Amino acid sequence: MPKTILVTGAGRGLGRTLAERCSARGDAVIAHARSESALEGVPCERRLIADLAQPETIEDAVSELGLEHLDALVHNAGVAHIGPVAEQRLEWWRESMAVNVVAVAELTRVLLPALRASGGHVVFVNSGAGLSAGPGWSSYAAGKHALKALADALRGEERGAGVRVTSLYPSHFTTDMQRSVREAFDSEYDLDRATSVESIAQTVVETLNTPSDMVVNEMRIEPPNPLPIRPRP
Ligand SMILES: NC(=O)c1ccc[n+]([C@@H]2O[C@H](COP(=O)([O-])OP(=O)(O)OC[C@H]3O[C@@H](n4cnc5c(N)ncnc54)[C@H](OP(=O)(O)O)[C@@H]3O)[C@@H](O)[C@H]2O)c1
Repeated sequence: MPKTILVTGAGRGLGRTLAERCSARGDAVIAHARSESALEGVPCERRLIADLAQPETIEDAVSELGLEHLDALVHNAGVAHIGPVAEQRLEWWRESMAVNVVAVAELTRVLLPALRASGGHVVFVNSGAGLSAGPGWSSYAAGKHALKALADALRGEERGAGVRVTSLYPSHFTTDMQRSVREAFDSEYDLDRATSVESIAQTVVETLNTPSDMVVNEMRIEPPNPLPIRPRP
């Protein structure tokens, strides 16, 4: 059955692929990006423009949509600043926490009435870095660990209201983010050993398709034969 689905970070990467897939199957997609131009060519019914690095702007932007019902909210947008703690700049920490955590909490808060009204589903695109942190990952992993906490608390709070919450923990898949992470680590990258962005988008769609009498709370995803991220010898 067609759903109304809000996808954050829909201008490129996983968010764009997901918006395309959902629109193709007849869903009413509300595509989010920080600029109108980022959404050029993205199939959608409506747009939400907000810079997630400024979470205080979200409530006004969302209220302009006048949404009373929302079937699914996919928190996909994210940023990653890779480097040792000794080199992590203050603005990287601020941006990582704002985009990957605070904006996600704020967007969830303002959309909860519409989600409750539909018995909606909130999907958090987390990361393997949300479960363990290695060298170089501090600001990204800290944000994703906090995102796990946000999702786990929300799941317990909203189950009585019929809102389902899923956290996905992918290892790595083929987008700009993975390319730039590999560059930052000076690591080899083999597309054939990464999960495709299409496969991750399909998994999100299938998660949204699960029968309403069950919920996938968490899913860990990795390629069958992953190429570890580590500096070239
Ligand atoms: N790719 C991987 O290997 C991998 C692995 C595990 C988890 N993930 C997670 O998967 C999700 C999608 O990542 P991706 O690989 O598709 O990354 P991507 O290609 O780098 O895309 C990131 C998206 O987030 C948006 N975004 C970043 N900062 C924003 C801001 N301040 N305001 C609004 N939007 C903003 C970007 O918009 P702009 O175009 O405006 O920058 C873009 O649409 C992220 O949460 C990421 O952490 C990715």
